Amino acid sequence: MLSGKKLNGSVALVTGGSRGLGRWICKALADEGTSVAVNYNSSSADAERTVELIQEAGGKAAAFRADVTQEAGVEGLMDQISKHFGRPVDILVNNATGPQPMLSIEESTWELYLDQLHFFVKAPLLLVKAVLPHMKAQGRGSIINIGSEVVQLGNPNFSSYVTAKSSMIGMTRSWASELGPSGIRVNLIAPGWIPVERHEGVQTDHYSKQVPLRKMGEPSDIASAIVFLASEDAKFITGQCLSVNGGMTFGI
Ligand SMILES: NC(=O)c1ccc[n+]([C@@H]2O[C@H](COP(=O)([O-])OP(=O)(O)OC[C@H]3O[C@@H](n4cnc5c(N)ncnc54)[C@H](OP(=O)(O)O)[C@@H]3O)[C@@H](O)[C@H]2O)c1
Repeated sequence: MLSGKKLNGSVALVTGGSRGLGRWICKALADEGTSVAVNYNSSSADAERTVELIQEAGGKAAAFRADVTQEAGVEGLMDQISKHFGRPVDILVNNATGPQPMLSIEESTWELYLDQLHFFVKAPLLLVKAVLPHMKAQGRGSIINIGSEVVQLGNPNFSSYVTAKSSMIGMTRSWASELGPSGIRVNLIAPGWIPVERHEGVQTDHYSKQVPLRKMGEPSDIASAIVFLASEDAKFITGQCLSVNGGMTFGI
């Protein structure tokens, strides 16, 4: 038993934990004593690397392949996780994303919007329904949705992504109201632009110059905010949207 850690003995599922922000979120949760289910869809080697990083630091983790945008992918996932770790999921982080195309309205289609809604509305819905029986039974649980500052910025040529991320805010608030009486908290973290592997070589100066703190955020900035929201330190916080973006936006 790891003592003195904020999330000792709990189990977390992080969707899209194989790389990018998800890997850092998995690592930070594991460092605080959580057994982490590292979900991925296609990059098994990356997911195994996340697991190795956690295990090398003395934490517990295992990789679980599932396309979280599909009913068939989510079906049976919670059973596999609880069988592996010996207890069901206490913390759910809805983080997975697919490609985020930048297209004008003229170039956009309903199918393109649906693609984004599949990641940011359908997948969280499938997963929350799957974790609820256990969370309700134990009268406790923490669900954290990963949104984005683009909702406040309203970036042009990005409407499918911005629209789907906007939906997550209403979903977070409604779920928080509905699940609060069952002791389940639901919050959203809205990251600013946090360079990860897929941004390698991309110029960031034009963005960081607009950030009040005058620098780019790091994946660990998001991960530590998630640990806070998942922990008892945030036990009276639900239905909130926390921007982690160096002050790039204020409020919702
Ligand atoms: N990085 C930023 O600047 C930033 C800013 C604001 C918000 N966000 C949000 O933060 C979250 C993470 O973004 P990121 O930049 O870290 O993304 P990323 O590096 O592209 O990673 C995406 C993750 O999602 C997984 N994934 C893709 N399709 C999946 C599916 N169908 N089922 C399960 N997993 C799937 C990928 O694994 P596989 O390839 O193995 O499937 C990968 O682990 C997203 O919700 C994003 O919108 C990021």
